[in-house]
Amino acid sequence: MEKIVVEGGVSLKGEIFISGAKNAALPLMAASLLTDQPLCLHHVPALSDVSRMEALLAQHGVDVQKNAAEKTLTLQASIITNTVAPYDIVSKMRACILVLGPLLARCGEAKVSLPGGCAIGIRPLNVHIESLRSLGAEIDIEGGYICAKVSSQGLRGAHIAMPLVTVNGTENVMMAAVLAKGSTIIKNAAKEPEVSDLAHCLNAMGAKISGIGTDTLVIDGVEQLGGTTHAIIPDRIEAATYAVASAITHGDIVLRDVVFDDLFTFWNHLSKAGALIEAMPSAHNPAFSDVRVRMPGEIQGVDMMTEPYPGFPTDIQAQFMALMTLCNGAAMITETIFENRLMHVPELCRMCADITVHKTSTLVRGVKELVGSHVMATDLRASVSLILAGLAAKGTTTVQRIYHIDRGYERVEEKLRQCGAVMERVPTEA
Ligand code: EPZ
Repeated sequence: MEKIVVEGGVSLKGEIFISGAKNAALPLMAASLLTDQPLCLHHVPALSDVSRMEALLAQHGVDVQKNAAEKTLTLQASIITNTVAPYDIVSKMRACILVLGPLLARCGEAKVSLPGGCAIGIRPLNVHIESLRSLGAEIDIEGGYICAKVSSQGLRGAHIAMPLVTVNGTENVMMAAVLAKGSTIIKNAAKEPEVSDLAHCLNAMGAKISGIGTDTLVIDGVEQLGGTTHAIIPDRIEAATYAVASAITHGDIVLRDVVFDDLFTFWNHLSKAGALIEAMPSAHNPAFSDVRVRMPGEIQGVDMMTEPYPGFPTDIQAQFMALMTLCNGAAMITETIFENRLMHVPELCRMCADITVHKTSTLVRGVKELVGSHVMATDLRASVSLILAGLAAKGTTTVQRIYHIDRGYERVEEKLRQCGAVMERVPTEA
């Protein structure tokens, strides 16, 4: 096990290149199961979750060719040799559930382990299952596995009204529907940029998906899909995280290669908190922006509530809360997506933050300073919020269990050290 030790008090200055989006990479990798042709992905982030998905796909028979230096991944499912996604892999990463739809569509069957517990909430899969049943899948839960098979007529297009917005649920159903007979309409579809990125890639593979970016997706099934080459969109959650790193340390960081509009609601909140945010065309890629973030004055309290896209992303809630712990005044922060995504609160309070919790609402009263402490990472975004707090705190902060961070942040200490952060990764004493 390792920990990260942070010396607070440095105003970060410099530039950070944003990596490809974890939450786009994972469904895109699963999409390789839909065709026997090669799917070549660019801008692939070097994350432990990506490695886990590679291992899962490889045991399904996918040929995985990785070029870490080029950040490319070529996946080819010429033949799928195994339609079981085992507990020992799925229990470590819930996103493995994303092979369910593609396996059903390509092979007519799938046996995917239920992921089991998750720190941030129960995270049931009822909407995935009910929606796939609407497409004609016969699904039973046996021995902790989702056992699914397609009836003799194959998957058939259906009109699906999702009872709640689910990102991976929308992605799973979309990947099943692209090879179904007939047309599928998904109402109340998730609109996250990562869902749209997957839809664009599927269309490049020969799918017929319209309504991309809206809450109504129309998918006309096709006989088969081909391969394609696809560049993964930048990670908006990583970009927002480092924007907070600049703001909380009163620094001056330029985030390179960002899709500015993917974070519209977040920029709105950050500028209300007093940050100066300037977007300019990316120096080397016209599709992206470079975004300069500064916080010259006091941090102002800004109320925030997480919502599905385009609302404030739940994956930035913990990071924004870290910023609000030092605000002039107070902020009400409400988590509406997951029922237990406040485990960073007691850890921030160990650093002298003043936060009270009422169910899933928190009142964050700004304090003059945070004090460095020993704290424990509990999940991916909570752990990075503790690093952000440590960057601004007086003294030394030690964040334990940082394997959570490596799931979603490529070379986190390297990127922050390049901007002057004093931090290092050390082994945890046995
Ligand atoms: C995706 O998870 C992301 N993960 C999460 O990012 C993100 O927090 C979440 O979307 C919300 O934006 C990936 O894309 C790999 P949901 P997902 O289904 O799809 C409930 C991170 O930090 N629900 O949109 O699993 C669920 O319990 C991770 O990068 C059901 O009740 O999330 C939750 O309360 C964390 N039944 C809500 O919907 C279902 O069948 C939204 O979950 C499905 C979901």
